Amino acid sequence: MNIDDAIRGRRSIRNYKSDDVKEELVREIIEAATYAPSAKNGQQWRFTVLTGESKDKFTDMYRSELSKLTFDVGSSFGSCTMMEEAPVVIIVWNTNEYGWPTEIHSVSAAIQNMLLKAHAIGLGTCWIGDIFYTYEAIMDYFKKPWKLLAAITVGWPDVSPGPKPRLSVNEVVEFMS
Ligand SMILES: Cc1cc2nc3c(=O)[nH]c(=O)nc-3n(C[C@H](O)[C@H](O)[C@H](O)COP(=O)(O)O)c2cc1C
Repeated sequence: MNIDDAIRGRRSIRNYKSDDVKEELVREIIEAATYAPSAKNGQQWRFTVLTGESKDKFTDMYRSELSKLTFDVGSSFGSCTMMEEAPVVIIVWNTNEYGWPTEIHSVSAAIQNMLLKAHAIGLGTCWIGDIFYTYEAIMDYFKKPWKLLAAITVGWPDVSPGPKPRLSVNEVVEFMS
């Protein structure tokens, strides 16, 4: 797939077939992540791949923690259902070694590589930020020395959404001379 097709054709996929995704493909996606640029080449990304029972336990915990919250959690229950249904959930961490904002940028660049690579091999993904509603609980659950950055669902798409509106180049750029 050429780069323009990958960039323009990728969409967030929220419905998945129940078919498994082979570990080999997950490794390919993560390998793509490792080619992202990173601040001082610090490669501040780390990944925890959840499938099967480990994913069920995680989503059970997430759903239960969401249920305790008394404020509006937006699309979080929908995101939880998505993680329950996707065959793979990748938790993305930032090692946060120096506490720089640029470490977050580095890991975000890695995520974009993952989404594009997954799309290029026919897999669907969705970047999930709703996990931040239960940030402390998730940190406590995994007990990693890193900071939670995102969760990514991965699976074989069961939908084929069309393009989503985008601001035009003229709306987002100013050229200065
Ligand atoms: C940082 C970030 C957080 C996101 N969090 C969620 C989320 O929690 N749940 C969800 O369904 N989609 C989430 N998305 C997906 C966006 O809704 C989606 O990228 C956006 O609507 C544009 O659609 P597209 O990805 O299909 O182009 C997130 C995307 C980003 C970049």
